[in-house]
Amino acid sequence: MRSLAREALRRLRAPPPATFDGEAEDRYARLRAGSICIAGGKGGTGKSVVCAALGSLLSQRGRTLLLDADFGMGNAHLLQGVDPGRSFADFLRGEIGLEGLLVPRRPGLDLIPVGHGALDRTELSTFEMHRIATGLERLETGYEHLLVDLPAGASDQTLALAAASDVVLLVTNHENTALMDTYAFYKLLSHRRPGVRPLLVVNRVESAELARDTQRRLASVSERYLGHSLRMLGWIPEDPRVRCGLTMTTPIVEREPASPAAVALTELAARVSDALGGSGRAGLGRTLLRRVGYSPRSR
Ligand SMILES: Nc1ncnc2c1ncn2[C@@H]1O[C@H](COP(=O)(O)OP(=O)(O)O)[C@@H](O)[C@H]1O
Ligand SMILES: [Mg+2]
Repeated sequence: MRSLAREALRRLRAPPPATFDGEAEDRYARLRAGSICIAGGKGGTGKSVVCAALGSLLSQRGRTLLLDADFGMGNAHLLQGVDPGRSFADFLRGEIGLEGLLVPRRPGLDLIPVGHGALDRTELSTFEMHRIATGLERLETGYEHLLVDLPAGASDQTLALAAASDVVLLVTNHENTALMDTYAFYKLLSHRRPGVRPLLVVNRVESAELARDTQRRLASVSERYLGHSLRMLGWIPEDPRVRCGLTMTTPIVEREPASPAAVALTELAARVSDALGGSGRAGLGRTLLRRVGYSPRSR
């Protein structure tokens, strides 16, 4: 297990490939961050934990930006052990641009936290989504990776962000309620973006067998109703060291890199990086901007 993680770290730290698939059609693709959103309909399945770990690990390969898209009550800053500066509410009031929210976390990793002062609503207006898209389009050219930590549920903006990402990771656990929500999210996402192929991460399981069983259950439903199964990119064991205390902390891959969950997350990060290498880089901000469909009258 340890040697697999060492090999995964070596792959992550190796220079990125010289060309990406899809580059031929879009010669500017390399200038944009490859985007990965971490989704899954249910809360508490470990989306933010996975996203925080991927942030630390992918930043060893190239500059990484992590967006906390839980605009209502995001806590990504707590998992990264940083104090947010300005709040997302300041951005929505137009006091600052998206770049005004950037907090450097470690060399190669920046965070856009939601910050203090939660919003009194979770749905954003078309105008507000348009501002986010514009800000992301400006920022994404300065990074190799853009990670999006999505909230539970399948709100319009959550689906819009997932549908505009190059790679979608669905994080679930083995409980029926989580599986049902993950399937429901996949279904809504494929209505919005036909042909989308999310990758599955099974979290908090005791064995590879349970992870495979979870994947099979989901795959058979999605195959039957959506015509496509779900590929498992990796699984992460239940590991008490993942849970952090009340104080701010750092992701498990930095705190306890040799723990079982950290080893699995390191292997997962290498596979995410491979998946990104094989996908075109449409630019999340750029794609979102095209789809949001804002005109001054819709404000
Ligand atoms: N592999 C794991 N082993 C043990 N605890 C975990 C694991 N993954 C996540 N957790 C715990 O589960 C809780 C929910 O995780 P979180 O990432 O906040 O979920 P989500 O973002 O999906 O709502 C947290 O307390 C976290 O520490
Ligand atoms: Mg979360």
